[in-house]
Amino acid sequence: MPAGTVIREGPTQLLVPEDHSTHGPGTKTAAVFFNEQMAFNRDVSIMFLRALERDKITVADAMTATGSRAIRIAHEVPNTIVTSNDMNSDAIPFINANIRLNDLDNCTASNENMHILFSNGAYDYVDLDPFGSPVPFIQSAIRGCRRKGILAITATDTAPLAGAHAGKCRRRYQSEPIRGYMCHEGGLRILMCTIAKELAKFDRGMKPLLSFYADHYFRTYIQVEEGADATDRSLDQLGYMHYDPATLERSTSKLSDNEHRLGPFWLGPLHNKEQLSKMTPENTAEEKRCAKMLDIWQNELNDQVFLYDLSELSSFIKLSPPRLENLIEALNQSGHATKTHISPSSFKTDLSTKEIIDIYKEISPETLRKSQ
Ligand SMILES: C[S@@+](CC[C@H](N)C(=O)[O-])C[C@H]1O[C@@H](n2cnc3c(N)ncnc32)[C@H](O)[C@@H]1O
Repeated sequence: MPAGTVIREGPTQLLVPEDHSTHGPGTKTAAVFFNEQMAFNRDVSIMFLRALERDKITVADAMTATGSRAIRIAHEVPNTIVTSNDMNSDAIPFINANIRLNDLDNCTASNENMHILFSNGAYDYVDLDPFGSPVPFIQSAIRGCRRKGILAITATDTAPLAGAHAGKCRRRYQSEPIRGYMCHEGGLRILMCTIAKELAKFDRGMKPLLSFYADHYFRTYIQVEEGADATDRSLDQLGYMHYDPATLERSTSKLSDNEHRLGPFWLGPLHNKEQLSKMTPENTAEEKRCAKMLDIWQNELNDQVFLYDLSELSSFIKLSPPRLENLIEALNQSGHATKTHISPSSFKTDLSTKEIIDIYKEISPETLRKSQ
């Protein structure tokens, strides 16, 4: 057994290097990587896979490090047969120790470059969790994903995707990112657009089942769909956007034109509500956080793109903001509005920018004080 420390994540025991990351994007502190803060990300995989309720599901955790996600899946999700793969040979003793620690007979350690792993076999569920951008790995992951399989992809290169390093985003994702309040929604949609374009090369389309931004990373779970029609349907969901900070007006367009120069983005839904309705937080490592996020994902408007933010509105309107709950309640009297998971001060609505501004003004604390 390699030197390390045993921790518990949910009902699973994990041997991890003593010297591991505990927060933030995670830096390589030992020969094998482990970041405690990603427990929530792993919890979501558990909730997601349990909700599929399949008789048998083959799983490849292609970049597994200590095996933390693979081991948890094998231990916590019934009917799984799991391959826990990392090309770093130092990872293998950790994976094997974790298999023994949890007494698993449905998990195998594998020491391949993921490009080789996926040219030799295909799986029902393929997980990619690289350092930084998943772009160099997406094509191989698609090859390794069985017909109608599921791709789960993490991206931790938040600075390019959210526009802080726009040049890198252009080079890596061939997309123009958004800065400001919409930057994380923009980053998530750029990642999803890239996956849709890569799938299209194989005549495969996609249906997002769950996609989110949390902590320092983006994550999406994609149901792969087969054939030209499905591919065309998903390419049809890609497009560009225009944002005018002088008016807060925003609009989208299938084609790039003089105005619509941000993107391309995935403009379709982020989630599948049926999948979310089957997910439950019981027996996860961070049950409270899982329950809270499930509630937001289930309720956020799924077919509206590009959120509004209270701070964006208050600095534009120059009146102090109402409570978010009050604004959402008022907006819901004229249309639909919900919180969004992207940030605690943002919301989505189907109302126009002008309608939002009018309602904001009506219920701003200053206006209410004057009317008393
Ligand atoms: C961010 S870590 C994975 C963390 C892990 N999923 C977890 O939840 O603890 C990324 C891992 O990818 C591995 N890796 C990088 N390139 C790879 C490749 N081409 N094939 C297989 N593994 C690779 C690295 O060795 C590293 O262990």
